[in-house]
Amino acid sequence: MASSLQLWSFSFILMASTLVIISKPVLVLGVFRPSPWQLAHATFYGDDTASETMGGACGYGNLYVNGYGIETAALSTTLFNNGYSCGTCYQIKCYQSKWCYKGLPFITVTATNLCPPNWSQDSNDGGWCNPPRSHFDLSKPAFMQIAQWQAGIVPVFYRRVACIRKGGLRFYFQGNGYWLLVYVMNVGGGGDISGMWVKGSGTGWILMSHNWGASYQAFATLGGQALSFRITSYTTRQTITAWNVAPSNWNVGWTYGTNVNFR
Ligand SMILES: *[C@@H]1O[C@H](CO)[C@@H](O)[C@H](O)[C@H]1NC(C)=O
Repeated sequence: MASSLQLWSFSFILMASTLVIISKPVLVLGVFRPSPWQLAHATFYGDDTASETMGGACGYGNLYVNGYGIETAALSTTLFNNGYSCGTCYQIKCYQSKWCYKGLPFITVTATNLCPPNWSQDSNDGGWCNPPRSHFDLSKPAFMQIAQWQAGIVPVFYRRVACIRKGGLRFYFQGNGYWLLVYVMNVGGGGDISGMWVKGSGTGWILMSHNWGASYQAFATLGGQALSFRITSYTTRQTITAWNVAPSNWNVGWTYGTNVNFR
């Protein structure tokens, strides 16, 4: 009896330690993992200057000033996910078209805009961004890195990858002393956010609501207070806090940097 109990507890310990070893990689919390490669199509919009890609539906404004540059994409409604996909990053490679450039394995782009549906065009003939299609409308300079622009449209393989960003999260303020609208930029890791809180030096944490694109808002009296933010990654669900992001004399139209980011 005693020996079988010992045997049982020994195997239990063995089992438990095996479980710990097996579950260890799963327990790495808050780290973004790339998705599998999937098939979609890519087109382009705007011209060689990419000026039409500025001021997209994510609200990043000038993409040069805000660090996104010209390697950007407008996502079809299906991929855009009501703006929750703003800031996500994709590797894209041209696939099985005579227009594909050989040699370059892929480009990496950030989602900065929505490619809206056009229901007066068939989904398989011009209405490329109509649901339920997964589609990337690239900046022309980005498209021209994977295929000849004369192609118009090419099949692509794509996968979500971690966004590599220099420095911390950045917050661009709009609104007024009673309504704070914050555009979240330069998000690393998953690149996306699912929720956000603000704390004035004289308030508790206030839950912000999603406005549009990559912006969140709080209807609260926050003028004249130093502001801290708490932000949750949509994909990894990690939450990080950026203390005292803006001083008490903060202003709308300004961008405030932090020294925290997702990986
Ligand atoms: C939608 O497609 C039609 C037909 O090709 C075109 O005339 C129209 O300009 C398109 N609308 C937009 C908003 O692109």
